[in-house]
Amino acid sequence: MRIDILTLFPELLKSPFEASILKRALQSGKASVHFHNVRDYSTHKQKQVDDYPFGGGAGMVMMVEPIDRCIKVLKKERDYDAIIYLTPDGETLTQQNANHFSTLNNIILLCGHYKGVDQRVRDHLITHEISIGDFVLSGGELAAAVFCDSLIRLIPGVLGDESSALTDSFQDGLLAPPIYTRPANYNGWHVPDILTSGNTPKVEAWREEKALERTKKLRPDLLR
Ligand code: ADE
Repeated sequence: MRIDILTLFPELLKSPFEASILKRALQSGKASVHFHNVRDYSTHKQKQVDDYPFGGGAGMVMMVEPIDRCIKVLKKERDYDAIIYLTPDGETLTQQNANHFSTLNNIILLCGHYKGVDQRVRDHLITHEISIGDFVLSGGELAAAVFCDSLIRLIPGVLGDESSALTDSFQDGLLAPPIYTRPANYNGWHVPDILTSGNTPKVEAWREEKALERTKKLRPDLLR
């Protein structure tokens, strides 16, 4: 999977890809991430990328031209399966749409700043709009990092244990069950006996029961 990210602040986005699972995914070539500074596509002398909103109002708006020019350059090189704008008024990111986007080959992510982008970008260039939750960030970069992480970890071979992405919370519509590791007794805090019994079918049944119990208690909306 190739991800091209259009941003005014590439430095905000670098570190998530420089450690742990995302770093390994990039090193193995299973995913690649490319940053494009929208400012480099401005035709203005001062490299202007934003302007006042027509009709007045507070805040600046990202201009259509630099974004359009950058996307045009990228599209000349390859076809894109999705051009996604990260915005708080987009469709909320869920495990289901992360699963879907993780199967695509080439995607572009656009990070907004200031008041957002000129509506013509959204009307003519963007194919999907994604929000990572009902709150407003200072820009789309951190949302893009979250979105990339949720996708890249699902690419086959990225996680060491192939089955582990499938046992995540939400993957079967339930929260994940509790997990434990050694020691089985720490200061009198005991691990449930069933987990040390070696009885795999019983362990599986226990996990399902706990997943359901946890979901009922913490996220009953998922069961409706
Ligand atoms: N940009 C600002 N806030 C955002 C959010 N919640 N999701 C996606 N992009 C954003």
